[in-house]
Amino acid sequence: METRILKKTQLTEAAEILKKGETLAFPTETVYGLGANAFDSNAVKKIYAAKGRPTDNPMIVHIANEKDLDAIAEKIPAKAKTLMKKFWPGPLTLILKKKKSIPDEVTAGLKTVAVRMPKNKVAQMLIRECGFPIAAPSANKSGKPSPTTAKHVLDDLNGKIPAIIDGGDTAYGLESTVIDLTTRTPTILRPGAVTRTQITREIGEVKNPHCKTGKKPRSPGMKYRHYAPNAAVYLAEPKKIEEEMKKHDPKKTGLLAKAKVGKPGAFINIGKTKAEIAKNLYRNLRLLDGKKIDVIIVEKTDEDGVGAAIMDRLKKAAKKNNDPQNNANTKNIR
Ligand code: TXA
Ligand code: MG
Repeated sequence: METRILKKTQLTEAAEILKKGETLAFPTETVYGLGANAFDSNAVKKIYAAKGRPTDNPMIVHIANEKDLDAIAEKIPAKAKTLMKKFWPGPLTLILKKKKSIPDEVTAGLKTVAVRMPKNKVAQMLIRECGFPIAAPSANKSGKPSPTTAKHVLDDLNGKIPAIIDGGDTAYGLESTVIDLTTRTPTILRPGAVTRTQITREIGEVKNPHCKTGKKPRSPGMKYRHYAPNAAVYLAEPKKIEEEMKKHDPKKTGLLAKAKVGKPGAFINIGKTKAEIAKNLYRNLRLLDGKKIDVIIVEKTDEDGVGAAIMDRLKKAAKKNNDPQNNANTKNIR
């Protein structure tokens, strides 16, 4: 299959592809998504196939109007409504009780469904043009960092999907915050651009997920190794970068930090602010992966605000090096 790159002015053509029951990659304000008609189980199956995604990992349903929710979710709690009012459209995904109209392929058999209203104008217009909600995970090959440009999608999925809408760089660079509202105290399943502080300000107490070993993870995606480049990722405190560098062959090491230390084979400045670090994180990991290196050392940030999302993704990218016990779980999706 030839993968076509469509301009953001070609939305009628893009919508035709989805209406035919095919998949299509499109930009959102967080990362690029690989979409299909959320009501069409056969179309949704093609997403799992193209990404090589484990079929027990559910996807997010993207909507353009709050009315679209009627056909997707039921018994919407007051706290969910408060969050929608404050953060939609935007990078916040809500887990709600699902309606029957959403096929099991979207939710991986769960009784809940993840819903998000993206802020990106191309994404909004595409959903409206289609007239149905779009189920979409991030448009990367399963296990790789999420794509923040159309080129990243092409690098991962060329020949596996019919088309990509090129909407330029994504604004946030990290995936949406995922919050489960089907539990008495809402639980943040994945930190993202909407921070814990912003959420508690609106709805009060929220929990972090407890992912005890042996227990079924609340968010199926949490058990997989994610966001990982090909090179082995090691994380270092700002003051310990030099020490970490010494453990590896410098020529084969890429450094992603605020300042260059020693003589790494490749160096990229990670950025000054956390917003900047988040926006370019996946791009930088992909760039370093393109160099002739085996190891990437990344400078840690604090976990305040968006720092929680940055460190969540980095810890997952580094998991295979720091946590060999979890390797068995995660190898199969590379
Ligand atoms: O920003 C984003 O969220 C991007 C853009 C394209 O919208 N999408 C994205 O999708 O990151 P994905 O599939 O890569 O991540 C969705 C996460 C996964 O960890 C999945 O396990 C979780 O949401 N999820 C989906 N449905 C769920 C459900 N019913 N219950 C718990 N977790 C769920
Ligand atoms: Mg993903």
